[in-house]
Amino acid sequence: MCGIMGYAGDKEAADIIIDGLENLEYRGYDSAGLAVNDNGDIKTAKTVGSPSGLRPTASGIKGRVGIGHTRWATHGAASLENAHPHASVSGMFSVVHNGIIENYEELRSGLEAQGVVFRSETDTEVIAHLLEKHYKGDLKGAVREVLPLLSGSYALGILCEDYPDVIVCAKLSSPLFAGTVGECGYLASDVSVLSGRCTRIYRLNDGEIGFLKAGSFKVFDSDGCRLRKTEIKIRSLSMDADRAGYRHYMLKEIYEQPAAVRRTLAGIISGEHRIKPGFLKMSDREIKGINKVRFVACGSAYHVGLVGAYVTERLFKRSSEACIASEFRYMHPCMDESTLVVIISQSGETADTLAAMRLAQSEGVKVVSIVNVESSTIAMESDKLIMTRADREIAVATTKAYSAQLAAVYALVIYLAERSGELDKREAARLLRGLMEIPDKQERILSSGFDYSSVTDRLISSGYVCFIGRGLDYCSALEASLKLKEVSYIRCEAYAAGELKHGTISLVDKNSLIIALGCCSGLRAKTLANVKETQARGAGVIYITGGDDDDAYENVIRIPRCEDIFYPLLEIIPMQLSAYHTALKLGREIDKPRNLAKSVTVE
Ligand code: AGP
Repeated sequence: MCGIMGYAGDKEAADIIIDGLENLEYRGYDSAGLAVNDNGDIKTAKTVGSPSGLRPTASGIKGRVGIGHTRWATHGAASLENAHPHASVSGMFSVVHNGIIENYEELRSGLEAQGVVFRSETDTEVIAHLLEKHYKGDLKGAVREVLPLLSGSYALGILCEDYPDVIVCAKLSSPLFAGTVGECGYLASDVSVLSGRCTRIYRLNDGEIGFLKAGSFKVFDSDGCRLRKTEIKIRSLSMDADRAGYRHYMLKEIYEQPAAVRRTLAGIISGEHRIKPGFLKMSDREIKGINKVRFVACGSAYHVGLVGAYVTERLFKRSSEACIASEFRYMHPCMDESTLVVIISQSGETADTLAAMRLAQSEGVKVVSIVNVESSTIAMESDKLIMTRADREIAVATTKAYSAQLAAVYALVIYLAERSGELDKREAARLLRGLMEIPDKQERILSSGFDYSSVTDRLISSGYVCFIGRGLDYCSALEASLKLKEVSYIRCEAYAAGELKHGTISLVDKNSLIIALGCCSGLRAKTLANVKETQARGAGVIYITGGDDDDAYENVIRIPRCEDIFYPLLEIIPMQLSAYHTALKLGREIDKPRNLAKSVTVE
């Protein structure tokens, strides 16, 4: 979370930094700040809220070298005091930081015992003070002494008054990139910010210390020895930050789902409904040797993993489960050479997912990653990578990346099932054809002209909202509930329909709204029986179905028929649109919901 932007060049830094922070705002928008080194005098501006709030105060700040930050609060509230950059006691050092310094309390106590008075509640401030304590006129030396004292994760941008033309940068488990073009140098925590601005882009690695100046970037290892860095090649990183006439990015991205799924599948499946040769490069022996598949991810990507687990059991006929990455990494998971771990992440930077992947890799387990950002850490560290081609997703609530992940998971499982012999070639081709027909069906839902106003009215007026479904419909129910919570702030939950009467049905009364997903044909009758139990207790019902057995319901959303296993790609669309229109009616900040950030880079 949080975003870092730095500039060292021949132009005024403040405006360039604010522009960059606005591009990074999706990473955190609680508060923002910048510091500019004006020939040895560091000047700072801060604001609570969006980085654009920096413009009035920063307009008077002159200087050509500076650092900026957009914050997602972890330690301390969103306030001016806690906004970055943080300065050392004398003001010699100014620091921006992404990540968490896990031993900051101990470091802070030590510094306070030496008389340092802290101005913020943040973990970051210790870094500025430590730098000042260790500084004896040698900037590189001070940084080299301080970094080993920090545990946790960090991406850092540092200014020092004695070095007015330099930004020092360093990282540990949190991404950081530098770029140059002509006489300008840029620093950013997200490579997409650099791709349109720089001709040469470098990824800083853990333990390296970078010195960014106008047009030059020098990197040293932790022993202080100069390293020769190779620039990274960035393919198709369009910022495409245009809403194209849509009121919100979320709505635009909902409508981009058919294209995202088509592009993703086009990278994997040939026109003959075959998986393209060379996909994943796994031998038949390796695939047949897989006994267990674990999908590991967070949030919506975890819901994709749940779909993956259901489909794996059905087609690949292997024991399978979805694991929340933050749980998986600490559960001492049993894995061996017969385990396949599938990592799913839009950003490729989610801290827990990355840690889970590294854990699996360290145990010698086969790992396949499904990622949307090619330059991300997970993509770079993955041996077997499937790219989703959703393009850049800007709204915090994922929609098109979610669909693209589902498409990739289906293709992966069909591939494993066919190569292992569990699925014959004709059946695999039939399923792949069905999968490739999904974008057309998504388009039919998107262009149906369905009026969501009665759904949104019910969602807003109900005292209790519960999404239910069985099997794959249950996976969609979980995602539908998350989507509604994220953007509308309506309290709701999702339940496996058969589980409701094991306790939760006590919440159901005439003020309740049950949203029943009943698309999977084999389970529809059972879900409808559970719906009746809630109706008997006075609940209102909205029913989403791919079938015709729905006359009893006042609010029915019909979706086109498809192969049962692919319904998650269709039934989620009316749920996304319901969440969007409800949030719109409630006047929520749809693209940047409160307390959330697009990329969760702290655990
Ligand atoms: C969903 O709308 C959320 N933005 C969130 O749950 C997200 O899916 C999760 O944080 C995982 O992100 P990732 O795909 O970038 O790893």
